[in-house]
Amino acid sequence: MKTALVTGITGQDGAYLAQLLLDKGYEVHGIRRRASRRTADRLDQLLAGSATAATGVHSHFGDLTDATGLARIVQETMPDEIYNLAGQSHVGISFETAEYTANVNALGALRLLETIRACGLTGKTRFYQASTSEMFGLATQTPQVETTPFRPRSPYATAKLHAHWSTVNHREAYGLFACSGILFNHESPLRDETFVSRKITRGLARVKFGLADCVRLGNLEARRDWGHAKDYVRALWLMLQQPTAQDYVIASGRQRSVREFVLLVAQLLGMRLEWEGEGVNEVAFDANTGKKVVLVDRRLLRPIDLPTLVGDPSKAQRQLGWTAQIGFDEMVAEMVAADERLAHREAGVAVGRPPLPSTSPNSPT
Ligand code: NAP
Ligand code: GDD
Repeated sequence: MKTALVTGITGQDGAYLAQLLLDKGYEVHGIRRRASRRTADRLDQLLAGSATAATGVHSHFGDLTDATGLARIVQETMPDEIYNLAGQSHVGISFETAEYTANVNALGALRLLETIRACGLTGKTRFYQASTSEMFGLATQTPQVETTPFRPRSPYATAKLHAHWSTVNHREAYGLFACSGILFNHESPLRDETFVSRKITRGLARVKFGLADCVRLGNLEARRDWGHAKDYVRALWLMLQQPTAQDYVIASGRQRSVREFVLLVAQLLGMRLEWEGEGVNEVAFDANTGKKVVLVDRRLLRPIDLPTLVGDPSKAQRQLGWTAQIGFDEMVAEMVAADERLAHREAGVAVGRPPLPSTSPNSPT
């Protein structure tokens, strides 16, 4: 039986990857942070009722900023594979927490790589680093491939680039089997509500059920390449099963704007959007009710944003045999259905309460 150690196990990808590894018969260890509230909900939600739930995940308290703690966990578990998914993953928030983001996203990866060396596991442990399309930044080439130059444009992206090159460097300098997956945006019903996809599906579902007045958004014109997290974690596992360690772009190959995302969600919820105004004064009304359901809030605009990203996953398709099985429309429909169910339940307990805004006007996300 193989042993895997997953950092960021309480996150979206951590939950889907844990399920995949358990299904494949792995002994799965996960590192999670101590928090003032329980953070394993997504994992519990996914594993509940599944055939592998009984096996469970072995939890270890740890933090990517705590090198000695990481070393102890690696020494105890002696993993065949380490998946480094932990990270301060919010690009917008990284502008406000730049040093912390670098500590976790850049040095965190380096701490794990150095731990593998220090524990004498270079010949045994395979390492996966959660790199990102954000590293391409203001990209010089479209679509982006593995060889596209990196031009990061946020503290999040510069930190991830450090981790990316540390991964490549440890592979080349010490022969470590280390892969970097350059993943484009991937979403699911388990996505946190601070990311735009889930903010839209959850927010508009709550508007529909009278639980919120409207959804506040930032840049509606940003174009992203969105896929489903369940598909993307399969690529992580495939990378670590190859005869040689390499880096791969994982993407759908198609992009949509945030505005198009909003329109599809509204349509699935039975709303008919009509836009008025421009830029930071733009709003969308539901023609069925005449109510304002989306508005642009200048406080949600980032200091700098990436106008467009789209990836070409040909290398992964060719070498890993990876293809996405869940299309964009299907993914959005799954997210909307899940958030409609959630809002329906909430509405049941919220009868008589006045509608709440879906996000605090001061929220930076
Ligand atoms: P996520 O849902 O935000 O999960 C992040 C995970 O990292 C959570 O488990 C979080 O723990 C943990 N974490 C944060 N800071 C930590 C620290 N200091 N020490 C230990 N754990 C820490 O992110 P995701 O969507 O699953 O993404 C997984 C990884 O892939 C991230 O590194 C992200 O940057 C990267 N990535 C994501 C995408 C995407 O579109 N989803 C695309 C490319 C790359 P808590 O639950 O305690 O907060
Ligand atoms: N979060 C958020 N909230 N984004 C908004 C909003 C809003 O209210 N309104 C517009 N956007 C725009 C952002 O400015 C950005 O251009 C786009 O929607 C996507 O934002 P996010 O969903 O926050 O994702 P991201 O692309 O910045 O980052 C995600 O994908 C990266 C891969 O490209 C994260 O998962 C990163 O961890 C990941 O590396």
